[in-house]
Amino acid sequence: MSVTIIIGGQWGDEAKGKITDAISEHADMVIRPNGSTNAGHTVQIGDDVFKFHLVPAGILRPGCDCVIGAGVAIPPADLIQEIDELQARGIDTSRLYISDRANIIMPFHPLQDQLEEAQRGSHNIGTTLRGNGPAYADKAGRRGVRMADLLDESALVERLNLTIPEKNATLTTLYNQPPLDISELLEQFAAYGEKLAPRVIQAEVLVQDAIEAGKSIIVEGAQAAMLDIDYGTYPYVTSTSPTAAGVCQGAGIGPTQVTNVISVYKAYTTRVGGGPYPTELLDETGDLLRKRGVEYGTSTGRPRRTGWFDGVAARYTTRLNGVTHAAITKIDVLDTLAEIKICVGYELDGHTVRAPQAVADVYGRVKAIYETLPGWQEDTTTCTSYDEFPTNARRYIDRLEAVIGVPVVMLGVGPAREQLLWRKQVDFS
Ligand code: GDP
Ligand code: IMO
Ligand code: MG
Repeated sequence: MSVTIIIGGQWGDEAKGKITDAISEHADMVIRPNGSTNAGHTVQIGDDVFKFHLVPAGILRPGCDCVIGAGVAIPPADLIQEIDELQARGIDTSRLYISDRANIIMPFHPLQDQLEEAQRGSHNIGTTLRGNGPAYADKAGRRGVRMADLLDESALVERLNLTIPEKNATLTTLYNQPPLDISELLEQFAAYGEKLAPRVIQAEVLVQDAIEAGKSIIVEGAQAAMLDIDYGTYPYVTSTSPTAAGVCQGAGIGPTQVTNVISVYKAYTTRVGGGPYPTELLDETGDLLRKRGVEYGTSTGRPRRTGWFDGVAARYTTRLNGVTHAAITKIDVLDTLAEIKICVGYELDGHTVRAPQAVADVYGRVKAIYETLPGWQEDTTTCTSYDEFPTNARRYIDRLEAVIGVPVVMLGVGPAREQLLWRKQVDFS
């Protein structure tokens, strides 16, 4: 029996989908615990590319149960489309279950996201505009509509009657938008409920039964620790806790039930949207990383900002999340570089600081202190074992391991399923 959590250790898109796929071969269950369609997790098998937004990547493994947990915010139309598309590609989705406690993203949430971003002007967060922030604000404000409400007409009427008048007041007076029609929403969302009903269950009970039965469980976290609402670069963060602790909550798992926490890091860094980023490269090297890494958002297509590996942020997130193992992906993207830098310290106003700073503008003033390592200038994409790795690539990974502070066990050398090497073999099943 094992419960293995996978989280992003940077600002997202570290290849959590690929790592989930890699270790799910013998898993009994994969749970997506948090976030919404702001996430995009890619798995590439041969020429087939799957981009998951809500469905756990474990759906590609026959016999593996997949759960969308209570911590996820679901836009039902998008979920139905994602399921339909998977089915059209021959993927069996009959083992996909949805928590009856998951909150619903309503049509006004993306609209509100857009209007709020526009109002922030030059201080905009650069959200994915999927309604994530407004939906979680309504959840915390106890105004949310949940999956169970879609299956119970009187509950849905009650929830909409509670929420919509307040939304309409905001939309019409503050944003000069037309009001929403309760009866239209009722009809539309009851229909989504009917369609999804066979999958809607008390997911935490299924999860706890699986733990009790000694099953092998993976929690596929979305977003990343540096986007965490408490410990990330607030306010340039997502509206949830994509930490190991946060994903336990979203999945319905207690901290003492967790066996492993894998943090995924790219061999460099990227971030999408605004906010401080000490190791950002605004030069040709940054462009090269974007081009070679195909750094464009999986959900929104936006170009990702690129930079050197930030060892201070990585160590910070490793400690805060009780990380037990690290995976380093996209090493191949660095293959052509003559020199590679790692940020090993921060300097702020002439002093050394040990961690990301709470105030975004202050963190924005932090200067990265770098160590420079020689590149390997060899192709790693065809390496089939760690023994074949170029010497300088090993030196780089050894150094990252020392900086991160936990064993680096897996290495990504390309997007395909087989382009993953075990540096230290671990049985996560
Ligand atoms: P996630 O959100 O953490 O699951 O990551 P994304 O799927 O948004 O972004 C990772 C991108 O990098 C995807 O396009 C993957 O196909 C690709 N990818 C994953 N691992 C590797 C790797 O080791 N090398 C390269 N070059 N690409 C990779
Ligand atoms: P995965 O799971 C990268 C970022 C957005 C923005 C901030 C807030 O694929 O790694 P939101 O829409 O959540 O209110 O946006 O968070 N963001 C992500 N960046 N990968 C993600 O998910 C992200 N999910 C949110 O770009 O900066
Ligand atoms: Mg992604």
